[in-house]
Amino acid sequence: MIRKIRTGDLRVGMYIHDLDISWIDHPFLLQQFLIKDGETITKIVRHGIDTVYIDTQKGGDIPIKQRENSEALPEVEQRLEQLIGEIISPVQPQHRSSPHDFSQAKEVLANATAVVEQLFDETRDGLPPDCCELESITGAIIRSVIQSPYALSGLSRFKVLDRYTAMHSVSVAALSASFGRYLGLTPEVIAEITRGALLHDIGKALIPKRILKKTTPPTDAEFRLMRGHVQLTSSILEKTVGTTPAMVEFIGQHHERCNGSGYPERIRGTEMGTIGKMAAIIDVFDAVTSRREYRPPWSPTHALKKLLEWSPDYFDSDLVHQFIRFQGIFPVGTLVEMRSGCVGIITAQSKNLKKPVVTLFLTPQKTAMGQLQEVKTEQSDETILTAITAERYNIDEEALLRQL
Ligand SMILES: [Fe+2]
Repeated sequence: MIRKIRTGDLRVGMYIHDLDISWIDHPFLLQQFLIKDGETITKIVRHGIDTVYIDTQKGGDIPIKQRENSEALPEVEQRLEQLIGEIISPVQPQHRSSPHDFSQAKEVLANATAVVEQLFDETRDGLPPDCCELESITGAIIRSVIQSPYALSGLSRFKVLDRYTAMHSVSVAALSASFGRYLGLTPEVIAEITRGALLHDIGKALIPKRILKKTTPPTDAEFRLMRGHVQLTSSILEKTVGTTPAMVEFIGQHHERCNGSGYPERIRGTEMGTIGKMAAIIDVFDAVTSRREYRPPWSPTHALKKLLEWSPDYFDSDLVHQFIRFQGIFPVGTLVEMRSGCVGIITAQSKNLKKPVVTLFLTPQKTAMGQLQEVKTEQSDETILTAITAERYNIDEEALLRQL
């Protein structure tokens, strides 16, 4: 049985099935392992992990008298499924159907990624970020999300591995701009958080690449060094013309967590601002839905459920609910299998967030369709069976994106 328990109940001999925290928040390379010593338990607790899943078939269990207070994985999944159904009522009156224009978004993504890479190079050379370049891609991103709210963030989820950090910055910027618009933030604040998002990890430019690209678990010292990118970014920001309090909050708090387990200041939700809480949600959502050298991505649908599970401990519940209403349970860019057996990608939302627009590209036999076929599930009998990841049917994401 897979059981969710509090880390205070962990004992040597238990088998960790899932650390129940996003992988950007812990230094363990593996999510699944046998606890062989007390030091590992101390390390898990020290990293602010409140709950974990254990596999009781592969290791020890908690005492019988404590089991009543724990949840089995299917119970957790059922609870989240129900909750998400309540958060997303079938028709969201405030939610407009989204048009999609991938060709324009592709151009913005390519330009913005190149500019962020250039900013990283200049930072390595000790130069402050070029404000004109930053201003120009901020404007392009905002225009893109005004025209097509989900296209850019949907596309930028598919990362080219060796351009991860730059593409992640653009993706976080696109999500911040479009979510900010959804929340009704002012145009000035939307521009500021978009700029902040583009720069939010720029301090990583000053961390040795051999540490950033390690595929073995980081040592405690290396993990501390990596976490130092927030302070490094903040100090770069101090030298950047046009830095505003909203940018400082976005960057300074994107790794803070509501239960005080984040960094660098370990502040709690009550001390975090709305922009900081938004940054934390968006940063984790984009990270866990992106492919890395050492980890396959989660489907956006799964990631939204995990954000829900991780709130209010790590993330602000109200903002997570809003984020789910904004994205829909099948965000644009999600790969899905239909009841017919066809496979497609979500390309736009409709007013009914449970029935988005899907562009089909694989037949029920999982062979390529001669031509992409757009299905508005709101007006069709075709329904979505489940969200999948590219691994399921060996989908060539790059080839797919070229066709959109
Ligand atoms: Fe970061």
